[in-house]
Amino acid sequence: MEVSPREWDILKALRDLGGKAPAHALAEQLSIPLATLMSDSQSLEGKGLIRSTEVRIKRARLTEEGKRYAEEGLPERRLVEALVELGGRAEIKQVAEKASLTGQELAIALGWARRKGWVSVKEGTLTLLERPGKTPEEEILALASRGEVRVEELARRGLEAALASLERRGLVEVEEEAFRILKITELGLKALEAPRPEELVSCLTPELIITGRWRSVRFKRFNLEAPGLPVYPGRMHPVQEVVEEIREIFLEMGFQEIRGPLVETAFWNFDALFTPQDHPAREMHDTFYLADPSEGDLPSEAIVQAVARTHEDGWETGSRGWGYKWRAEEARKLVMRTHTTATTIRYLAEHPEPPVWVFCIDRVYRNERVDYKHLAEFHQIEGIVMDVNVGLRDLMGILAEFYRKLGFRKIRFWPSYFPYTEPSLQSTVYSPEHKAWIELCGAGVFRPEVVRPFGVKHPVLAWGGGLERLVMLKLGVKDIRKLYRNELSWLRGLPICP
Ligand code: PHE
Repeated sequence: MEVSPREWDILKALRDLGGKAPAHALAEQLSIPLATLMSDSQSLEGKGLIRSTEVRIKRARLTEEGKRYAEEGLPERRLVEALVELGGRAEIKQVAEKASLTGQELAIALGWARRKGWVSVKEGTLTLLERPGKTPEEEILALASRGEVRVEELARRGLEAALASLERRGLVEVEEEAFRILKITELGLKALEAPRPEELVSCLTPELIITGRWRSVRFKRFNLEAPGLPVYPGRMHPVQEVVEEIREIFLEMGFQEIRGPLVETAFWNFDALFTPQDHPAREMHDTFYLADPSEGDLPSEAIVQAVARTHEDGWETGSRGWGYKWRAEEARKLVMRTHTTATTIRYLAEHPEPPVWVFCIDRVYRNERVDYKHLAEFHQIEGIVMDVNVGLRDLMGILAEFYRKLGFRKIRFWPSYFPYTEPSLQSTVYSPEHKAWIELCGAGVFRPEVVRPFGVKHPVLAWGGGLERLVMLKLGVKDIRKLYRNELSWLRGLPICP
């Protein structure tokens, strides 16, 4: 059996120590780090030259308070001894003074002395009932005052209950330590009959070459099959990686990126998108409303008026509106943006002339119960195209192209509903891996009720959907919360080039 020089040394030290020793003692004896010894001993065990077993040892140690009592005696002991000296009956005050017990300690002493049935108390006077001999607790304090004691030893002496009681009183702490005990085997003893193997050289140095010693030394053989140490370089967060990829795709397709505020007025989040003020999505269970400040500014009076009229009776849009009384207070309320459509409509209001090809990838907030597929803070991917002569076909074409670039070949559309688009559609892509159609985004052409108040005269194609779902698909994650849990093992384990 081949052993390395160090393995040979370990076997020898083990034999000299009687054939059996704890790993840490052996490491100390050989002056090598424990980790080195452990890896060598694994190899030795693999060769059947040693056997190792784990032993757990529990030790009891006195706490600071415990140490003090070990010296001065337990408070209840001091109390009883003082009482004995005072003739077995005395006022508490007197006993306390004699035993030099004050405050908290006196309370502890009285409590335990009574509980143990050593004294009785009546109208401030103590009467001795029993003067106990050395108690199990005191035995432990005495044993442990010389250092740590093994719990096993205490158990053998029948002191378990007393130990538990001292632990509860905070006078003793029990700690468990795990050891590895190494034991040399017959085979190991045999291996020692061979002379210590020569030192192997694992690194060819200039010195070896110059002196010509390389001719005579023995080189260690490289194991080219041995796995290398994994390297974890700094890297982008996987969600951010997908964001970069999507950004790249939009830029390739001729879009520009826009961003907008996370805190929006309800005006931009809802009203500008022709979402009526009593729409269920506005209610507290979906939208986070800000408490302080609770209101923001509305745009120019002309725009506000146009939006208000559109909601009420359709204004000049050809629509009949929703038929209710629009309130500016409702529109002023500040909300956490619930969708990035708030940002695209804001941009459109400032850029009413074609062409507009913009996208936004950013955070949105919804008052959701967090579970494996919902987060209260997540991201949306949003885009709009406003141009002369664009229509639904262009929208479907752009979406198909976008998803194709992301790696999804099959895409399906079907009619849907949003208050701000007509026609509206929903799109799904097919994931061959999951063998399932996955809902990705809502889309449509902005209604005249949305665009006319802002002076936009050309068709606006719009779409928006969740980012996390896409990331989950790409990374094979089943629980959305995993994306933001910062589990290092998962983050490190993800391939950089999938
Ligand atoms: N804002 C919609 C959502 O959050 C998606 C959408 C955007 C629909 C643009 C149509 C047009 O689900």
